[in-house]
Amino acid sequence: MADTMQTKEQTEVSEAQIAVHWKEEDYYQPSEKFKAQANMRDAHILEKFGLDNFPDCFKEYANMLTWFEPYRTVLDTSDAPFWKWFVGGKINACYNCVDRQLAKYGNKAAFLFVPEPEAEPDVVIKYQELYDRVNELAALLRGLGLKAGDRVTFHMPMVPELPITMLACARLGIIHSQVFGGFSGQACGSRIQDSGSRVLITMDSYWRSGTLIDHKANADIAVRTAKDLGQDVDKVLVWQRYPGKYSAKTPMVPDRDFFMNDLLKEYKGQKVEPVALPSEGPLFLMYSSGTTGKPKGAQHGIAGYLSYVTATAKWILDIHPEDIYWCMADIGWITGHSYIVYGPLANAATSVLYEGVPTFPDAGRPWRIAERLGVNIFHTAPTAIRMLRKLGPQEPRKYKYHFKSMTTVGEPIEPEAWRWYYDEVGKREAVITDTWWLTETGGFLGTTVPAIHAMKPGSCGPGAPGIHPVIYDETGTEVPKGSGRAGNICIRNPWPGIMQTIWGDRDRYVKTYFAKYNQNPRSKDWRDWPFLCGDGAVQAADGYYRILGRIDDVINVAGHRLGTKEIESACLTVPEVAEAAVVPVQDEVKGRVPEVYIAVKPGVQASQDIVDRVIRANEEVIGKIARPKHVYIVPDMPKTRSGKIMRRVLAAISNRRDVGDVTTLANPDVVEQIRTLVQGKDVVATREELPEDIAKFGQVE
Ligand code: WTA
Repeated sequence: MADTMQTKEQTEVSEAQIAVHWKEEDYYQPSEKFKAQANMRDAHILEKFGLDNFPDCFKEYANMLTWFEPYRTVLDTSDAPFWKWFVGGKINACYNCVDRQLAKYGNKAAFLFVPEPEAEPDVVIKYQELYDRVNELAALLRGLGLKAGDRVTFHMPMVPELPITMLACARLGIIHSQVFGGFSGQACGSRIQDSGSRVLITMDSYWRSGTLIDHKANADIAVRTAKDLGQDVDKVLVWQRYPGKYSAKTPMVPDRDFFMNDLLKEYKGQKVEPVALPSEGPLFLMYSSGTTGKPKGAQHGIAGYLSYVTATAKWILDIHPEDIYWCMADIGWITGHSYIVYGPLANAATSVLYEGVPTFPDAGRPWRIAERLGVNIFHTAPTAIRMLRKLGPQEPRKYKYHFKSMTTVGEPIEPEAWRWYYDEVGKREAVITDTWWLTETGGFLGTTVPAIHAMKPGSCGPGAPGIHPVIYDETGTEVPKGSGRAGNICIRNPWPGIMQTIWGDRDRYVKTYFAKYNQNPRSKDWRDWPFLCGDGAVQAADGYYRILGRIDDVINVAGHRLGTKEIESACLTVPEVAEAAVVPVQDEVKGRVPEVYIAVKPGVQASQDIVDRVIRANEEVIGKIARPKHVYIVPDMPKTRSGKIMRRVLAAISNRRDVGDVTTLANPDVVEQIRTLVQGKDVVATREELPEDIAKFGQVE
């Protein structure tokens, strides 16, 4: 890393700097075969999308869509920082994803649905069938009196009925708000209330790890929660996992609950014209956690969002209509909205939808699916990669699939996990794009363009075309590339995928994303409104960004801030370690010190030797400052149902606090095991309040 002297000096002058220590990795090149077939091969693409050509460069994105009426203004900044894209145009997202594909691809699969039970056959949904089903459902929703601008909340699992319902709403301009199926009824209820939905769409049941879950029970809790908060729900529309059969035990509530399949009979064969909607009409809300307890509804608009995910699905995911694309994310998250539903369909993709858990019934499942369906583009998160590696490091070798391209998203990926993904999952044939972005940003912010840029494990790459990141320190001074120092990564310019606002809370939108670095709240010039992403990042001399995680996940050890991911990455260099999580612990002398929790690979015995080597790895890779106070070898990490490690729970245990409510975790039982391991049999939790940085630690996840 360049210029250590300068680094030291500036770290001392500005306490706000985050110390960054992570060995620079070697580059990997895309194969000639991949390059020859890629959608985006123009080596000058980033220059073409330079700030000199902003915002007109994004006309190319708008041109990928079919318009009912052309737009007049590319970017309207008159209500800064509430950007309006492609103003004056009329458009429909459903038309762009479905109707316009019929002529050429009507007989091609839009979705290949893979149920979790392995004995259940795949379900193929061709574009023509998608069109028919979306139209019937749109007719039904219209029949219920729903219209453009109304909000409807969904609480649906990973089944084809979810994208069908999204598209039916989009056809009419109804704003959909899908709450992740694994969230509790209460979480769903508070989101219903915030969005002001009067209709909830759900499903009776779905398969998860071999169990057919009664999901309808959550709808009752959601409606009750919303009512307690002041929002009435008139109707609950219930899809049936097995049409014509009710697979839940929870009774239907008369006059409120209706089976979608019963209602649909009346609308058989009906067609509904897609509504020509204004470009900046809202398409959907996606709730996401912030630093306060109240989730915020990121509002995405039709034309800007759709153009952005269409172009990035084409250029970055490299989707061609002939490909079989599989994104293993859940549609309940932004990744699923952008890169399972809207982006892929607008590109006439064939997309795999998998209902269940990747490791069910064993860690070979994803690779069996890939082999059987001929998947050639694979997209998943580091957590899944680590889990599959932990449970079946050799499994990919047993299956004859071939990926041309793979994506990782959602968390920083440690070089070690990256290399397993590359060597074993990708069989050294597939390119990897590490795509960094947020719910709020609609689509990719930091990524390589796969046929053009070399890959570097652990770094997402430069800004995506037309995205111009900048790293600021706490005082608003730019942190130069190659300095080895980290800061708050922001985007200098608006882009079409950016959220429009936080639903119902304009002030919070401005405060959360712009207030920190905006100098002039009255300015109508976009240059005055850098967008604060909320991540710490460092830019190497080559221009690639490495994302260190949420700013809140940084541990300040003796005045040096260490990215938790750096420590975890160091732990993972010990070959026996499968997963690692670090938390800050109060320390008399150093303020905070990291404590490390690790899970070892199957067949490996926990031992003092492993603990010693983990400590040594931290000293070697990062420095003595990162020496963990304790290393605990645990049977499993406490995880959310979406698979993220709950560092907050570990931080509470490490800091001798009560762990709070853990019932929503995927594996609540493991928490007590870890607590006993760390705190001993008797409960030693103190009631003393936690310092704020630790109390908030890991919450943004
Ligand atoms: C993190 C998910 C490192 C980051 C699309 C961000 C990443 C948060 C990456 C947003 C990546 C996402 N490398 N970190 N490739 N992608 N993140 O809103 O901390 O669920 O702020 O959106 O995930 O999570 P969200």
